[in-house]
Amino acid sequence: MCLVRHTMQLNDIMKLSKSIEEIRSDFPILSTKAYGKPLVYLDNGATTQKPEQVIRVINELYRTTNANVHRGVHYLSDRVSERYEAARETVRAFINAQKKEEIIFTAGTTASINAVAFSFGERFVGKDDEIIISGMEHHANIVPWQMLCQRKSARLKVIPFSDDGILDLESFRGMLTGRTRIVAVAHASNVLGTVNPVREIVREAHSHGIPVLVDGAQAIQHGIVDVTDIGCDFYVFSGHKVYGPNGIGVLYGKEELLNEMPPYQGGGDMVASVTFEKTTYNDLPFRFEAGTTNFTGAIGMAAALDYLSALGRQAVAEREQALLARATAGLSSVGGLRIYGTAPDKVSVISFLIGGLHPYDTGMILDKMGIAVRTGTHCAQPLMERYGITGNIRASIAFYNTDEEIDALVSGVRKTVEMLA
Ligand code: ALA
Repeated sequence: MCLVRHTMQLNDIMKLSKSIEEIRSDFPILSTKAYGKPLVYLDNGATTQKPEQVIRVINELYRTTNANVHRGVHYLSDRVSERYEAARETVRAFINAQKKEEIIFTAGTTASINAVAFSFGERFVGKDDEIIISGMEHHANIVPWQMLCQRKSARLKVIPFSDDGILDLESFRGMLTGRTRIVAVAHASNVLGTVNPVREIVREAHSHGIPVLVDGAQAIQHGIVDVTDIGCDFYVFSGHKVYGPNGIGVLYGKEELLNEMPPYQGGGDMVASVTFEKTTYNDLPFRFEAGTTNFTGAIGMAAALDYLSALGRQAVAEREQALLARATAGLSSVGGLRIYGTAPDKVSVISFLIGGLHPYDTGMILDKMGIAVRTGTHCAQPLMERYGITGNIRASIAFYNTDEEIDALVSGVRKTVEMLA
């Protein structure tokens, strides 16, 4: 998996720092019984579960350190502001950004992409300009660009991909023109699991002077992401998919580009001075953080990133790859089952359909066995159309899943086939 292979840090450990039993006891929800059966949570692509270390920080914050961030001269406001800025530094280090000012807290991946589509679009996109995305994007990396194209009479171009789920880079190269203003691609597909060659895409786009946004919502939790190494201009992700709270996310942007872009939202804290005649804006990153931000979310997310770092991100990636291999082998042995997404570089996401069985029926029967998977289009309708299907079933695996849970999925799918066939 290239998330790891290309960006491995020498001092990262290969062995998880805790046993699987210790890890699972960190996540209280994993001991849930669903319909009296042990919960097998395989919907981690939709949201991940939270360790005690994150829950505790949020709880403690409200008990001891709650005040509005960056707003007061008093003790509590100072303390919470310090912790918020420390969280920013944790994020910076986690993705190896060069400067803390390049880390903007948002409500999540969707909010981050909308902010770039609006703000970058206002400054750099005009009539007949072109924006390139890929055919395997989540709606969050499609719709904001369509809205921008509508506002500016610009054009959206889509990189095709093969049946295996591999982007056609030849087509991509052919799409880059003097009118291309930005390229926006997923680091990893939320349906196919494909890890896209983002470094190559960035290198190619940059050779034409075109910036690149990488949607890391399905990549950041699966390995080591290094934005300096990738070279991208924007990188976005959500806290809730990386074992942190929901309602918080990150927009990393290169300082020189962010400084050129007008703020996305107006309000408190994003200004230097306000009169009725004229407002001047604050410096980065505050210029893009209007209003009271989700400071508890940011501090909670930093606790989640610390948790992953302590566990060993390389080891997390390797464990997930082993679980993915087990799930792929097991599901492939089920007659009539087709896996969508068979690229060599994948995160631990496996989507499938079985013969003529409806994904919802399959999902509901699995649910009654205590197995949580996602069914439907996974917010990627154009991808489903590409395969001529209306939806599928997705099992998305995290490091806290076990071999036994993977085997339960495979035998659950077999039983479902027997019941429905
Ligand atoms: N984007 C999330 C998913 O893929 C919700 O499930």
